[in-house]
Amino acid sequence: MIIRQAEPRDARHVAEIHTASWQSAFHGIMSDDFLARQNVEKREAEWLKNIMDYPGNLLIISDSESDIVGFSCSGRVVRQTEHAFDGQVFGIHVSPVSKGRGYGRQLMTASFNWLASLGCKNAFLWTLEANDDARGFYEALGGRIIALKSDNFGDRTLEELAYGWETLTLARRGHSCTTSRDEPLS
Ligand SMILES: CC(C)(COP(=O)(O)OP(=O)(O)OC[C@H]1O[C@@H](n2cnc3c(N)ncnc32)[C@H](O)[C@@H]1OP(=O)(O)O)[C@@H](O)C(=O)NCCC(=O)NCCS
Repeated sequence: MIIRQAEPRDARHVAEIHTASWQSAFHGIMSDDFLARQNVEKREAEWLKNIMDYPGNLLIISDSESDIVGFSCSGRVVRQTEHAFDGQVFGIHVSPVSKGRGYGRQLMTASFNWLASLGCKNAFLWTLEANDDARGFYEALGGRIIALKSDNFGDRTLEELAYGWETLTLARRGHSCTTSRDEPLS
């Protein structure tokens, strides 16, 4: 298993995993039509630009030199937010066939290490409220709900939750927090 910073040659593979992950994880949450229109070429161009503009933010995990099984993208908070978190995980996806094998935890650990190297003290991320699997994952890693918002995805408006970590430390099994949407941190 290898975790490394993405290079331009990885953009296509990341785009393929990203698209497959959306179409699998968000089935029944986003409309079928919107998911069917997800475009690998467009995502490839976006990831290529991201890799060039923000070297180091995009981390990939592979189970051999050539087989990428997931990725995470993190960096300093770019937009001013109402809360005090200075690091953000912009996205994390493990290939649908490789979920549940520990790759997600390893990517989050690597992203938190990257944020620490940038001088960040804490981190947050956004996830869909209806994405129960991801919410279970973030809660197992000690994330606590800190904010909510609505966003448009095709023809649907969906609720999103922000999970925050007050230090760049992930919980281990047996030490996870339980969170409630009704109890956001201030
Ligand atoms: C969410 C995702 C990144 C998690 O990655 P993963 O490789 O499947 O997760 P891991 O196997 O590393 O799990 C890490 C820990 O979380 C726990 N966990 C994972 N999903 C969980 C769930 N739904 N409920 C409770 N615990 C969960 C695991 O038991 C494991 O615990 P441990 O490390 O203490 O043994 C991955 O499933 C994924 O890509 N999902 C689809 C895309 C997506 O929703 N991305 C997030 C968008 S915001």
